[in-house]
Amino acid sequence: MAPLIVDCDTGIDDALALLYLLRDPAVDLRAVTTVFGNVDAATAADNTLRVLELAGRADIPVAVGARSNWRGTVDLAPHVHGADGLGDVGLPAPSATPVAEPAAELIVRTARENPGNLHLLAVGPLTNLATALLLEPELPRLVSHVTIMGGAVHHPGNVTPVAEANIHNDPEAADIVLRAGWDVTLVPLDVTMAEALTESAQRRLVDAGTAISSFAARILDHYLGFYERDVFGVRRAACHDPLAAGIAVGDVALETAPVVDVVVETGEGPARGATIADTRGQYRGYPAREGAHVRVVLRTAGGFADRLVDRLCAPEAAE
Ligand code: BDR
Ligand code: CA
Repeated sequence: MAPLIVDCDTGIDDALALLYLLRDPAVDLRAVTTVFGNVDAATAADNTLRVLELAGRADIPVAVGARSNWRGTVDLAPHVHGADGLGDVGLPAPSATPVAEPAAELIVRTARENPGNLHLLAVGPLTNLATALLLEPELPRLVSHVTIMGGAVHHPGNVTPVAEANIHNDPEAADIVLRAGWDVTLVPLDVTMAEALTESAQRRLVDAGTAISSFAARILDHYLGFYERDVFGVRRAACHDPLAAGIAVGDVALETAPVVDVVVETGEGPARGATIADTRGQYRGYPAREGAHVRVVLRTAGGFADRLVDRLCAPEAAE
């Protein structure tokens, strides 16, 4: 499989996405870079190192990236992911530390070392990717594909009526990234809200009894609490970052995924952070417009949440 870098703001669903990838021996995860978002960028790196260690992959380098957005502000989400970003379940502190190289520089260097081959999976605000584009304008040619969890196309937003958190956290960066001339797959709320993690998933994780499944069950408990309280009214959680990870590595059948133009609203009004995708071709089978380069996933075949749980329940080597 192509070498992969995950850029994330390690909260609960980022951690589940990382574990999903780490449990597949075919995935060549070269590095993880972190960005502010669910937590600050340093905490995201610390959380990532904890998760890598849990999965026996402390050898994977972790680089800290943007500590704030293009404007220098942050808006963290402890109400969703807990004060520590991982549901406050006390996952042991890591023995490794982040590398000295800043996230955007690590992305550029790895792309130059693997020209035309590197896949980027971004599941946090897009500040690091936008910075990498400024450092290396040839990046779209050096990178084979970018998969992004973000945006809300025909679905309401989750932090404003129209904006999704990763995009809303840094609309200017998101606009730069989505306009750059690389092949992008955008995985918006339209599909991530439709993949449900439920109490029965949590029970399966508890019953499997491995170190990874037990950790996943405990952080899922926190996540289900947020979704019950603030979103669905029942214990059912969305599967944002894991679904994007599954799509990035080709594990998910896409039913509706037109290649269209996408721009991000960067104005000050109520639409700030909205992702405006030109999906007007829906009655004609979405004919691709020349130059369009963002594949927007609007419907998948479903069933991914079960496969995520299967993967997290798989026996671990030492057990
Ligand atoms: C996205 O925002 C973050 O809270 C999640 O980790 C996910 O990447 C969902 O809007
Ligand atoms: Ca995330």
